[in-house]
Amino acid sequence: MTDSQNLPRVAVITGASSGIGAATARALHADGYRVALLARRLGRIEDLAAELGDGAIAIQADVTDRDALVAAAQRVQDELGGADVLVNNAGTMLLGPFSSEQRADYRNMIEVNLLGAITATEVFLDQLEDGGGDLINISSVAGRTARATNGVYAATKWGVNGWSESLRQELLPDVRVTLIEPGVVDTELPTHITHEATRQAVQQGYDVATVKPEEIAEVIAFTLARPRHLAINEILLRPAGQLG
Ligand SMILES: NC(=O)c1ccc[n+]([C@@H]2O[C@H](COP(=O)([O-])OP(=O)(O)OC[C@H]3O[C@@H](n4cnc5c(N)ncnc54)[C@H](OP(=O)(O)O)[C@@H]3O)[C@@H](O)[C@H]2O)c1
Repeated sequence: MTDSQNLPRVAVITGASSGIGAATARALHADGYRVALLARRLGRIEDLAAELGDGAIAIQADVTDRDALVAAAQRVQDELGGADVLVNNAGTMLLGPFSSEQRADYRNMIEVNLLGAITATEVFLDQLEDGGGDLINISSVAGRTARATNGVYAATKWGVNGWSESLRQELLPDVRVTLIEPGVVDTELPTHITHEATRQAVQQGYDVATVKPEEIAEVIAFTLARPRHLAINEILLRPAGQLG
């Protein structure tokens, strides 16, 4: 609860239009949070906000656009009284063999997965620090390991991991920093892969994905529900049958 006003806590979720972000919004709203849903696809987040009802607002924002994030933060301050939780979830996984043909994908992944999370955090930091907050960074198993064809995606997630550990030390004890590192989760993530042979191969694995986004959302909600003196800083979780 936001102590001063005795109001439910406020969670800002980037990439709330699908997958893990949408599931996290549903889970936190069910736990009594007010939620700000950020994404580029306005129709999707408006539909989700309408589904959730009271205490949910949709804000169109591209995490590569700092001005849009600043405007979003202003709306969260004005309409919800400020953010207690920021979930840096927006991401893209544009896998493929390393080549110049993929160079636009590399820039996009770095700008969304790494710089987008950094920018959203610096924009919302004052709100998180006001009264104590939580920062949840959605990394990946790819933030702990790397394999052929995922080099730049892994680089963005390794970057998120290193940055998170530094922030954890800077922000303690008032802002708890948590890394969530999932393996394969059944979402639309692979559908955006531009290298066609890689997309088809990766999609086959996702077609039989056993872990659902709701299960990751449940872990995030559990982490946030721990008493303030306990910080869960890192959770690595895979489908039980995933090797790497
Ligand atoms: N699914 C997995 O197997 C898996 C495993 C490990 C980690 N992850 C991580 O989990 C996070 C969520 O992915 P997901 O699996 O739920 O995939 P998803 O369903 O494709 O969701 C990705 C979300 O990111 C948003 N997004 C993409 N580019 C954006 C931008 N420039 N600005 C704002 N939002 C943007 C998308 O919204 P709009 O397109 O509407 O903007 C969408 O809501 C990512 O960080 C991903 O790396 C996923």
